[in-house]
Amino acid sequence: MDSLWDVLVVTAIFFTTIILYRNCFRLLRSKFCNQLPLGSLGWPFIGETIEFISSAYSDRPETFMDKRRRLYGKVFKSHIFGSPTIVSTDAEVSKFILQSDAKAFVPSYPKSLTELMGKSSILLINGSLQKRIHGLVGAFFKSSHLKAQITKDMECYVKLSMANWTENNPIYLQDETKNISFQVLVKILISLNPGQSMEFLKKQFQEFIAGLMALPVNIPGSRLYQSLQAKRNMVKLVKKIIQERKSCGISTVPKDIMEVLLKDENEELTDDLIAENMIDMMIPGEDSVPILMTLAVKYLSDCPAALQQLTEENLKMKGQKEQLGEALHWSDYLSMPFTQSVITETLRMGNIIIGVMRKAMKDMKIKGYLIPKGWSVLTYFRSVHLDDNHYDCPYKFNPWRWQDREMSSCNFTPFGGGQRLCPGLDLARLEASIFLHHFVTHFRWIAEEDKIINFPTVRMKKRMPVWVKRRRDP
Ligand code: HEM
Repeated sequence: MDSLWDVLVVTAIFFTTIILYRNCFRLLRSKFCNQLPLGSLGWPFIGETIEFISSAYSDRPETFMDKRRRLYGKVFKSHIFGSPTIVSTDAEVSKFILQSDAKAFVPSYPKSLTELMGKSSILLINGSLQKRIHGLVGAFFKSSHLKAQITKDMECYVKLSMANWTENNPIYLQDETKNISFQVLVKILISLNPGQSMEFLKKQFQEFIAGLMALPVNIPGSRLYQSLQAKRNMVKLVKKIIQERKSCGISTVPKDIMEVLLKDENEELTDDLIAENMIDMMIPGEDSVPILMTLAVKYLSDCPAALQQLTEENLKMKGQKEQLGEALHWSDYLSMPFTQSVITETLRMGNIIIGVMRKAMKDMKIKGYLIPKGWSVLTYFRSVHLDDNHYDCPYKFNPWRWQDREMSSCNFTPFGGGQRLCPGLDLARLEASIFLHHFVTHFRWIAEEDKIINFPTVRMKKRMPVWVKRRRDP
C-alpha cells in the first residue's frame, strides 16, 4: 500500500513539475517574442545536455553545433547543464561577449567547480580586484626576467625527464609532459623545487581536480568532499610557505606569482586569498600546456613533412648556438617561425579549451540576438576554429597556413579574449617550444596508434605512447 502511495506522489510531483516548467518557458517565449535566437530548449530539466555530451565524447564534438547551425544559424538557443543557454559559434558575437565587462557578463561554471574554487578565485571574481590580479599576473608572465628563469628550469626538467627514457619501452608522452609542466607551474607560482612537498602537492592536486566535474554533493565520503579536503591541505602548505617567506623578507624583485601578490598594497589581497589563488591558478595551467605539447607531437607524427621542417629548423638553431658556444635564450626558442606555426596550428585544431561559459547579468542584444538576463552563454571556439569559411580544409593539420596569416583575429581565440584573456599564453608557447626543441633534436620516434578524447577535457586515450630512438647524428 505504502509503495503504491509513493508511486502516486512521485508521479504527481513529476507531472506538476513538467507543467510548471512548460508554463515557465511559455512565459519566457511570450516575454521575448521573436527576439530570442532560434533553437530548441529540449526536454524538461535535462534540455539538450545528453545530446551535447554524447557528441562531446565523439571524434567530432562540434556535430551538436553544426546540426543546429544549419537549422538555426550561428547563434542559437539551447538548454545545457541545467540552464537555458545561448550558444555562439559566431566569432564576432563571441568577441563582443568576451570583451564585455562584469555588468553584462560574468563567468559561469558548473556548481562543483565553483565550490572547489571558492568565492575569491581569480576565475570567478569580477570588477577591480579581478583586473588588479589579472594585470599583476599577466605583467609577471610577460617579464623577460621570468622567461629567462623559466627557460632554465624547463630545460633542466626536460633533460632530467628525457635522461630516463629508454628505447625498450614506450614513453607515455602525456604523462611525461604533465610531470614536466607541473614542476614549471609550481615553480612560477610558489618557487617550490622538486622534492617531498612537490610530490605532496602533485598528489593532492590530482585528488582536487578529480572533483571538478563531480556531483555538487558535499557530504563526508563524496567526491566533492574529498576534493575540498585536498584543497585545504594544499592551501595549508602554501600558507606555511607564505609565513616563511614573510619572516625571511620578500625579495625586491619578486621571484614568483605569490611574491608579486604579497608585495601589492591592495588590502583585499590577504594571505588566505593569495594561498587559495595559487591553487586555483593551477587549474587552467596544469592540464592545458602538457596537452598542447602532446597534441603537437601527435599531429607531427601524422604529418612527416611538417615534422621534417620543424626538425630541420630546430637542428639548425641548435648547431648555430653550439658553434657560438652559447645556450639557447628564451627568445631563440620563440624565434623559429615554423615551430611557432606548428604550435599555433595545434592550438587551432586541438581546441584544448573548447569555449568559455558566461552568465548574462542583464538583457543584452548583440548583432540582433537577444541574450536574456540570467541565461548562460557558451562562446564555442571549436566551431570557429574548424569553420571552412575561415580555414581551408579545417580538419587538415597545416602549419604552413600560418606563414602568411594574422593570428590576432577573432577567428582564432584559443586563449579567450577581452578582460579574461589567458595571462599564461606566452608561457604556454614558450614551454611547448622548449619541449619540442629538445624532443626533436634528441630523438626520432614511432608513435603507437592513439586517439584524441575531447570530453570532459582534451586528452589522449592511451596517453600517447611513443617508441623513441636517440639521435646519433648532430
Ligand atoms: C595551452 C595552454 C592554455 C590554454 C589553451 C589556456 C586557455 C585559457 C582560456 C581560454 C582562458 C579564458 C577563460 C575565460 O575567459 O573565462 C584562460 C584564462 C586563464 N588562464 Fe589560461 N590557458 C593556457 C595556459 C595557462 C597557463 C600555463 C596558465 C598559468 C597559470 C594559465 C592561467 C590562466 C588564468 C589565471 C586565467 C584566468 C584569467 C582571468 O579570469 O582573469 N593559463 N586560459
